[in-house]
Amino acid sequence: MFVDPVQERSDTTLRDRNSGSEPSRGFNMRWAAALAGLVLTALTGCSSEEDAPGDAAPTDANAESSPAVDSGVVDSPRPETGTKDGQSEAAPDPTVDAQSEAAPDARGDDVGRPDAADVGGPSADAAADTRDTDTSDAGSSGPDAASDGNPRDAGDAGDGQSSDGARPIDTMAGAALTRGHHMGAAVQTALLDSATEPLFTTVLTTHYDLLVAEYQMKWGTTQATRGVFNFAPGDQIVAFASRHGMLVKGHTLVWHQSLPAWVTALAAAEVGAVLDAQIAAVVGHWKGKLFAWDVVNEAITDDGAGYRNSVWFQHLGAAFIERSFRAARAADPAAHLIYNDYGAEALNAKSNRVYSLVRDLKNAGVPIDGVGLQFHVNGAAPPPLADVATNLDRLIALGLTVNFSEIDIRVADVPGTQAEKLARQRTLYHDVIALCAARPKCHSASTWGITDKHTWIDMQYGAGHMPLPFDVNYAAKPAVAGVIDAWLGK
Ligand code: XIL
Repeated sequence: MFVDPVQERSDTTLRDRNSGSEPSRGFNMRWAAALAGLVLTALTGCSSEEDAPGDAAPTDANAESSPAVDSGVVDSPRPETGTKDGQSEAAPDPTVDAQSEAAPDARGDDVGRPDAADVGGPSADAAADTRDTDTSDAGSSGPDAASDGNPRDAGDAGDGQSSDGARPIDTMAGAALTRGHHMGAAVQTALLDSATEPLFTTVLTTHYDLLVAEYQMKWGTTQATRGVFNFAPGDQIVAFASRHGMLVKGHTLVWHQSLPAWVTALAAAEVGAVLDAQIAAVVGHWKGKLFAWDVVNEAITDDGAGYRNSVWFQHLGAAFIERSFRAARAADPAAHLIYNDYGAEALNAKSNRVYSLVRDLKNAGVPIDGVGLQFHVNGAAPPPLADVATNLDRLIALGLTVNFSEIDIRVADVPGTQAEKLARQRTLYHDVIALCAARPKCHSASTWGITDKHTWIDMQYGAGHMPLPFDVNYAAKPAVAGVIDAWLGK
C-alpha cells in the first residue's frame, strides 16, 4: 500500500508550460522517444495472458448494487458497501474522508494520513492563457483543439506527430496527438520516479502526455487541517509533468468525498466562505500551471433526480455550483473549467440532468468550459456507444468541450477465457476512445491509473477486474493497441 511520502521538491516551476517551448522539453521528449522504442518492444513482447492476475476471485456482488449497473448504462463504481480489499496495493486517498451520510456511494475505505507542511510550490510567473489562445497549430490537418474552443494544448501539431515530433504514433499519447487530442492518467506521487518500480515512470512518460492527481489536489490533502494548506504532493506531480512535457488537469475542487472531518462539521454560516477560500488558495497556488480544473465533481444523484446531498448542497443549495465556477475563474482566469461526473456517459436520467445543469449554467453566463465523463465501465454491461455519441454531441453543441476523465474498464464479469476477456476489453477501449478521436471538441481521454497493479477498482470491487491498459507487470495489454488504433482512426 502506498502512502504519499509528501516529498519536498524545489524544481516545481512550470515555466513555458503553456507555450510548448520549455527549453529542456525537446531533449526530454527525444530521450523519451528513443526509450519508447525499446520499452515498447519489451512491453508488447510480453503475453498479457500470462502476466495478468488470472486467479482472482470473480467480481463481487457490489457491482450489482450500483443503480447505474442495473440500468445497463454506464457503470458507476459506487457500491452501497465499499469493498475493502486488504490485498490491494493501490493507494487509498489518504484522507480523513468524512462522507456525507446521505451520499449513497459513501465509502469508508479511506484512512487518515499524516499532515505535512506546505513547502511552497511553483512560482506563478508562468501564468499564461491556457484557453483558446493558441493559434500555433492553425492550418493543421487534424482537428485544431486550440482554435475551436478546447483548452490550449502543449504539443499539438495535428500533422501526425506531436509538435516536437518526439512522441511516436505507436504510443497512446503519440497517436492521440496526431489529431490534437491527449492521453491522460491519474497518478499517485509515490510512483513517480520510483526507484523500486521504475516501469511506472517509463510507461507513464511513454504513453501519456497529461496527468491528473488521483487525490493529491483534493481537500483531504490540500487542507486536511483548517487553514493549513499542503501543496507539496500536488507540486510533485506538476514538477514531474513539467520535466516530461505533460499537461496537468486539477482534480477536484468541490466534491462530497475526500473531505476532512472539520469541513463536514462546519457551521452552516461558515461553509460559503470556507469554500471560497479553498478555491482561491488551491487554484491560485497552481495558477498558470494547470490547463484545466475539475471544479465540481459528482453533484448529481445517481437517479438524476436532483443534487447530491453533500455538505455543499445542504448549506448552500444548488448555488454552490455557480459559486464554485465563478471562484475558480477569478482565481485562474486562464484555466479551463469543467463539471465532472460518472454514469452520465450515455443517455439516461442522470446524463439528462447533467446536460440540463451545464446548459443552464452556460446560458446564465457561469464560467463553465467543459464536461468530464468518467467512464468507469463494467465491460459486461458497457454504455450503449451510439447513445454516448449522441450525448457527446449535445454537450458539444452547447459550446462546451468534453473529456473522458477516469476511464477504467473492468472485465471480470465478461464471459470467456482470460484472452477473451482481454480481447473484449481491447474492443471496448477502442470503441470508447474512437468516440473522442472523432470529435475535435473532445480534448482528452484519461485512464484512472495505468496498471492493474495499482487501481482503485481493487478497493471498490476486489481484485481481478484488470481494468487498465497495462497489466500488473506493466506489459501492454491488448487494450493499448486498441487505444492506439482508435486515436489513429483505425
Ligand atoms: C478515487 C481515488 O482513486 C481513490 O484513491 C480515493 O480514495 C477516492 O477517490 N471519481 C472521482 C475520483 O472523481 O476522484 C475518484 O478517485 C474515483 C471516482
